[in-house]
Amino acid sequence: MNGQDKDGLSRKTVAKKKLFIKSYGCQMNVYDAGRMADVMAPLGFDLVDTPNGADLVILNTCHIREKAAEKVFSDLGRLRPIKEAKANDGGRMMVAVAGCVAQAEGAELMARAPIVDMVVGPQAYHRLPEMVAKVERQAGRQIDTDFPVEPKFDFLPAPRASGPAVFVSIQEGCDKFCTFCVVPYTRGAEYSRPARDILAEVRRLASQGAREFTLLGQNVNAYHGEGPDGRDWGLGRLVRAVAEIEGVARIRYTTSHPRDVDDDLIAAHREVSTLTPFIHLPVQSGSDRILQAMNRGHTTAQYLAIIDRLRAAREDMVFSSDFIVGFPGETEADYQATMDLIDRVGFVQAYSFKYSPRPGTPAAGMGAQVAEDEKSRRLIALQGRLTQIQTTFNDSCLGREMDVLFDRPGRHPGQVVGRSPWMQPIHVTAPDMVLGSMARVQVVKTSPNSLAGTVIPGSVVPGANVGDFSRRESA
Ligand code: 5AD
Ligand code: SF4
Repeated sequence: MNGQDKDGLSRKTVAKKKLFIKSYGCQMNVYDAGRMADVMAPLGFDLVDTPNGADLVILNTCHIREKAAEKVFSDLGRLRPIKEAKANDGGRMMVAVAGCVAQAEGAELMARAPIVDMVVGPQAYHRLPEMVAKVERQAGRQIDTDFPVEPKFDFLPAPRASGPAVFVSIQEGCDKFCTFCVVPYTRGAEYSRPARDILAEVRRLASQGAREFTLLGQNVNAYHGEGPDGRDWGLGRLVRAVAEIEGVARIRYTTSHPRDVDDDLIAAHREVSTLTPFIHLPVQSGSDRILQAMNRGHTTAQYLAIIDRLRAAREDMVFSSDFIVGFPGETEADYQATMDLIDRVGFVQAYSFKYSPRPGTPAAGMGAQVAEDEKSRRLIALQGRLTQIQTTFNDSCLGREMDVLFDRPGRHPGQVVGRSPWMQPIHVTAPDMVLGSMARVQVVKTSPNSLAGTVIPGSVVPGANVGDFSRRESA
């Protein structure tokens, strides 16, 4: 279809189409959903917040969580009548399954679910437009779950700032092979983007008004990319370079592995004031026996030594973690060792899971699997303890002043929500506050999950009001 611009120039216009993406799981997946939306935008696909009437539905799956494949099949079941309704109206709804379940179970998905038109693994998103075009031309169903040698980043369009807080993917994949985990099989080997590309992306996003940058990777502190000087850069070196870019007010990174916390990263925490004093550093268990069976490659004492060194680098440092209870062979004593570790570190936030066997991983075949009700009991007690610690930490913030980056409208008129340097959501009533602004806030109220405060007069550094927030909430 050809149209006329206001200036009279003829240009190609693309018919508008609706794209619905459902993302499951981790931040890496949320980031990937954004990139899929970016890659489809030039073809006229706009994000919508319901699958009803959509031209393309992407289920962006995650394999880490329990019953991942079943959830995908039940969502596919729900999509069937919607796809049929669209066909009855003379339209066509394409269905793509992306992400880690696609990678691991692509062939089975194609065989079991005729509703699926495309299966695309995490390394092949740049080929989505081509796959969509082929399906549109009735060239048959498409599957692409190869691990190409060339990195996918080179083929994806530059992301746009979706708001003041953005993610920048710097590393993908994992070579660690924890015995419970599918990531090394679904995301492939570790790969680090060249620092030059990352810095260019940060500069572009900062110029669009982004202020908080979360450097993202499955094993983010295993980052070893080529520096602009041709040398190998680790995460500490990269963080220092990101910190120098104009507009960068806050830097975070996730998810890191204890084994890859090196001296230079610790030094960066001492030197770079914009690096947040909050680290997500999964430990999984506090029992050395279980850590060994998990192939984590460190002991509890080594983990605690890292925590001490990070705290010595920055005294206001807090930690969050991931825990698995009921790993095969976990005794009551092993579990108590995890509870002791939680008390010693005082994690202010955590994700915790019952162990669930993943086909093909070594732990799935181990003896002494723990009974389901026992896992539940351990998980509930562990989560109770973590909630207590989080509440105590939030309560300790009462009366304190902290820097807040406002990145969301609140639920009530005139309310804006931001985050503290320790990742706590903090609400203020400030009708004139522009999103992306930073301000000093005094905490006047605390609750287990969030804080409320008042803005210190004269402290507001106005932001660029970047991002379409209605879209962000629904993505
Ligand atoms: N069972 C339970 N939890 C798991 N995780 C990964 N694999 C499994 C599994 N098989 C958890 C780990 C990891 C987080 C992302 O998911 O705690 O750090
Ligand atoms: Fe999975 Fe372990 Fe790699 Fe993390 S470090 S992605 S838990 S294998």
